[in-house]
Amino acid sequence: MIITIDGPAGAGKSSTARAVAERQSFRYLDTGALYRAVALAFVEAEVTPTDEKAEALLSDCTIDLQFDDAGTLRVLLNDAEVTDAIRTSEVGDMASQVAALPAVREALLPVQRQIATRWSQSTGGVVADGRDTGTVVFPQADLKFFMDASLEERARRRHEEYQSDPNEEAPPLEAVRDEIRRRDAHDRERALAPLRRPDDAVSIDTTSMTFEEQVEAIEALIERAK
Ligand code: C5P
Repeated sequence: MIITIDGPAGAGKSSTARAVAERQSFRYLDTGALYRAVALAFVEAEVTPTDEKAEALLSDCTIDLQFDDAGTLRVLLNDAEVTDAIRTSEVGDMASQVAALPAVREALLPVQRQIATRWSQSTGGVVADGRDTGTVVFPQADLKFFMDASLEERARRRHEEYQSDPNEEAPPLEAVRDEIRRRDAHDRERALAPLRRPDDAVSIDTTSMTFEEQVEAIEALIERAK
């Protein structure tokens, strides 16, 4: 079973997808982590997306997601673990820029499908989240969701996440709001695989929903689809 959850930053996709996957004994496929890993390669090499070195940098990148023995998702860039290093706002911003490059989307498409095939064979199901998982990556998914929330609420949640990270100083709420607004506009307006609600997706507005309500809403539909 393939389940997709798309939506803008801070809508609650990743925490919900992770919880749903865990409760269903499925695997959680964080497609944003793949874009972030590519972005980290650009940040580390100090290459901008328009740089002529971008293509060579991309073709030298190997990206993979693996679960360790404890069941924790590990993100690998050129065989080095970058699970925590990709979670900065700088990398998030760069991810949104590299995600607009056709060569990046083209390179990550088979990676996402191969991971989903590998994992769904071993567990019976994958919950993928991102911006185009229901429209482009898995158009034949069994169930599709589109999660959204007000900008204010999404900024508040993202800010809370930054505050709970002991390794990074949390940016002010206004800066987080601006970052989210900028990234959303970029994701919605790009020519290739823009963020949009798949026609056959179930919409969930999480602005006033608790986390438990979000998970239950999705699980109820999975049970019905089984
Ligand atoms: O979900 P997350 O915030 O980690 O994603 C980082 C960026 O990666 C997004 O802003 C978006 O530009 C890009 N992305 C994408 N398609 C996906 C997942 C993420 O373009 N399926």
